[in-house]
Amino acid sequence: MKVLVTGGAGYIGSHAAQRLLADGHSVVVVDNLSRGHARAVQRLREHARNGDRLGFEHLDIRATDPIETLIREHRIDTVMHFAALTYVGESVEKPLDYYENNTAGSLSLLRACERSWSHAHGGVRRFVFSSTAATYGEPPADRVPIREDCPQNPINPYGASKLMVERMLRDSVAAAARSGSDFAAACLRYFNVAGADHTGLIGEDHDPETHLIPIAIQAAMGKRPGMTIFGEDYPTTDGTCVRDYVHVEDLADAHVTVMQKMTTGTCVAYNLGIGRGYSVKEVIAAVERVTAKPIPVRIGERRAGDPPVLFADPAKIRAELGWSASWTDLERIISTAWEWMRRNPEGYGR
Ligand code: UFG
Repeated sequence: MKVLVTGGAGYIGSHAAQRLLADGHSVVVVDNLSRGHARAVQRLREHARNGDRLGFEHLDIRATDPIETLIREHRIDTVMHFAALTYVGESVEKPLDYYENNTAGSLSLLRACERSWSHAHGGVRRFVFSSTAATYGEPPADRVPIREDCPQNPINPYGASKLMVERMLRDSVAAAARSGSDFAAACLRYFNVAGADHTGLIGEDHDPETHLIPIAIQAAMGKRPGMTIFGEDYPTTDGTCVRDYVHVEDLADAHVTVMQKMTTGTCVAYNLGIGRGYSVKEVIAAVERVTAKPIPVRIGERRAGDPPVLFADPAKIRAELGWSASWTDLERIISTAWEWMRRNPEGYGR
């Protein structure tokens, strides 16, 4: 397939691009490089199997006309849409940035796809969207583990900005079906993505870093003096938030599985998680074991927008597509992140 990967210079998008190339697909990465790394794409070009099948366009997804042109010129048939702002805390501070980039940005991209249905090659037929468990908000205790039919009531602008895109996709698929256009969409609701490519070529490099596992590793490496646990008074066994950590390579694998099995006229949603939750304290203890280093920890205030417990019921994607996470051991997941950060202490470099 010929796949447009938006946000392909970012953490999850670059791993998806790597996997698509490995499977022999052609990939065009579109990234505005506001958070992504040109060096991630460069490394894939130079070292990945089929790296010569990877193109790169320094473009914003809101540039509808250039994206439509690119779809035409590269005869794109599939879009994997990762480009987004993704910090829950930041979204509470700057909600409009999230609606502008994530919601309006996706609208522009979708508009380019819609226009492409009249292109000679048939245009974009499959759209795989990076959605998030944050769309579920704070599910009642009896709805955890979370199934896809759990009510979606996001409690932060990040989750809300993504939920609107799910709705746009559903409506666009229905409209396409009515007009006879060949279009399908999938909304993949990620839980907490973690780890790095096991070969060490690409990995997670955020500035600033806000995610638990890389922060704990940086603290273990002495790159920061210590770390703060955001709240110890949640209604969980040890008082800290519980999350479902899914390996980034499993996530890439799920995207390819979904892409190959999409049915015209449908807009499906799947949870991507391992189906078990770990508390913040359990994660920190696991990082200490993997790195064999103590992590200085202080207990701080709750962070705005954090639900207490989020973990997936991943049964739907297993039953319908036969997919399940192969990395289910937290320490092994953390080991790949540790390996990446040890080999690339400055990430991709600045
Ligand atoms: N945490 C700390 N200290 C830190 C960093 C994080 O205690 O220094 C805690 C957070 O408060 C949270 C947990 O660790 O309880 C995980 O936090 P992350 O920032 O790593 O991840 P989030 O759960 O906030 O969000 C992630 C993705 C979102 C996605 C969400 C879905 O970043 O894009 O998972 O579960 F929506």
